Amino acid sequence: MISQNEFITMSLDLNLFFLRIMKEHSFFLEVGFTPRDKDMAERARMFRERFEQLLSEATALANGNVSANLLTSNQATTQYTLEAERLTNFYTGVPFNLELTRRERMLRPTGPGVQDAQLEGEVERLDRRAYQLTAELVNYKEQLLRSVRTCNMFTVNYPLLIEHILREARHFMNMLLMLVRRESINRPEDLISQELFWNRQMGEHAKFIAGLLDPSEEALIETARMFGREFDELTVEAEQVSRHAMDIANVTANSLQETERLRDFKSAGTRGLLECRIQSIIIPLLGDHVLREANHYLCIMGACT
Ligand SMILES: [Fe+2]
Repeated sequence: MISQNEFITMSLDLNLFFLRIMKEHSFFLEVGFTPRDKDMAERARMFRERFEQLLSEATALANGNVSANLLTSNQATTQYTLEAERLTNFYTGVPFNLELTRRERMLRPTGPGVQDAQLEGEVERLDRRAYQLTAELVNYKEQLLRSVRTCNMFTVNYPLLIEHILREARHFMNMLLMLVRRESINRPEDLISQELFWNRQMGEHAKFIAGLLDPSEEALIETARMFGREFDELTVEAEQVSRHAMDIANVTANSLQETERLRDFKSAGTRGLLECRIQSIIIPLLGDHVLREANHYLCIMGACT
C-alpha cells in the first residue's frame, strides 16, 4: 500500500512519460498509411489529439507534484523534443503543441508538505481515463497488427514496431492498474520483470534504427546491429534470472551499462537527424522518442541522470 503522496507523484510521473509516448505512437501510425486507408489514419489522428489533451491535463496537475527525478532525467521531454517536433511538423504538416512541450520543460517538482485529497481524486480520475484511452488504442493497434500480419493492409511501420508499441501500451495499462489499487510500481522485487521488458524494447529500438538508416550509413548500421545483439543477450539473461530466482545484480549492472551506451548512441543520432547529418527514413521525433525511453529505463534501474 502506498501513501497518498506516493500515489500522486508516481501517477503523474508515469502519465507524463507514457501519455506523450502514446500520443507519438498514434502519430507514427497516422503518417504510415497508404491513401487507401485514410480512415485508419483518421482514427490514429483522433487518438493523437485525445492523448495530447490528456497529457495537457496531466501537465496542469503535475506542476509542484512530480518527482525531481522525472524532471531531471529527460524522460518526459529532452533537450531535443521541441526541435524534433518542429522538424517533424515541417516534414509532415501534422501540428504539434509546442506550447505543451514548453510547459512540461518548466514544471516544478513536488515540495515538502502534504498534498490534499482533492488532488488525489483528480489524479485517480486521470489514471482511469488514461487506462480507458490506452485500452482503446490497444484495440486499434491489435486490429492493425492483424491486418498487416495477414497481408490485408500495408503501412510503412514495421509489423514488429506495431507489436512493440502494443507491448508498451499494455505495460502502461498494467502500471495504471497497480496504481489505482495503491500498489507501488517500483518495488525492488519487480525490477527483474522491468528489465526483461525494457531490454527487449531497447534491442528492438536498435533493430528499428538499423533498418531505417540509409543503406549507405554502414558504420551506424553496424553499431545499431551490435546493440540489437547485445540487448538480445541481456533479454535472455533477464529471462533466466526471472525464471530461476538467481541474483539480479549482474544483469542490472550489465543492462545499466549497455543502456547508457545505447542512450548516448540515440542522443548523437537524434542530434545528427536534426542537423541533417544522417541519411535515413527515421522521422526525427522517433529519434527523440526512443531516447526518452532509454532515459526512462535508466531511471527504473536507479540511474536517473
Ligand atoms: Fe519503444
